[in-house]
Amino acid sequence: MKNTMPETGGFFSRDRNQHPPALTPGYKTTVLRSPQRALIALDGTRSEITGPVFGHGLLNEFDNDLIVNYAKPGESAIGQRILVHGRVLDERGRGVDGALVEFWQANAGGRYRHKKETYLAALDPNFGGVGRTITDEDGRYQFKTVKPGAYPWPNGVNDWRPAHIHFSVFGHGFAQRLITQMYFEGDPMIWLCPIVKTIPDEAAIRQLIAPLDMNQAIPMDMRAYKFDIVLRGRRSTLFANRMEGN
Ligand SMILES: [Fe+2]
Repeated sequence: MKNTMPETGGFFSRDRNQHPPALTPGYKTTVLRSPQRALIALDGTRSEITGPVFGHGLLNEFDNDLIVNYAKPGESAIGQRILVHGRVLDERGRGVDGALVEFWQANAGGRYRHKKETYLAALDPNFGGVGRTITDEDGRYQFKTVKPGAYPWPNGVNDWRPAHIHFSVFGHGFAQRLITQMYFEGDPMIWLCPIVKTIPDEAAIRQLIAPLDMNQAIPMDMRAYKFDIVLRGRRSTLFANRMEGN
């Protein structure tokens, strides 16, 4: 199937009930950083619209393989090997081609490679935890990685993030950036997470949960999870940097 140019026409109106309120005291940092006054809509500035764009020629061969892209030659990351794939879709369900999809995650033990990371779990010397790829003409993307572990975070007495992968999607300009998180089917930690609990609409949460997809698994190598990202409209994915809707 070949992707075609989207039709022009009016946008679908956004469903504001899908998005969590800015102030959700169960997620403590929202108390200080949620807006106290009515929001103001701003038009894009000239530099946002015409500013620098990502050069698609900058990608390296292993940017979409987190199992080896940080590993020493001949070695690989520790953990359950998985393939994550899906499509970036517009509000009419058509694939968006040429979108830069970036992803970052903790290692199999739940530890990030970051200088401010303090969790006890060990670093994996062969795992960096970041990668990127570009959607093809049908809006498809895929990457190989290891399944991330859950990790604790300082919020309540004993709060944990479920296993998750962070995603950023760029359009053709840096002003068009959307950020979200993918969770894994069957993980009981999802429903205990204070950040997930800020989302009032269960259907919106379920859209962030990637189902196991054995049809795309590679026999004797890795299982697959499928995660479609919908940029706008009634079925829009929830984006952390556009809680009010996008
Ligand atoms: Fe995280």
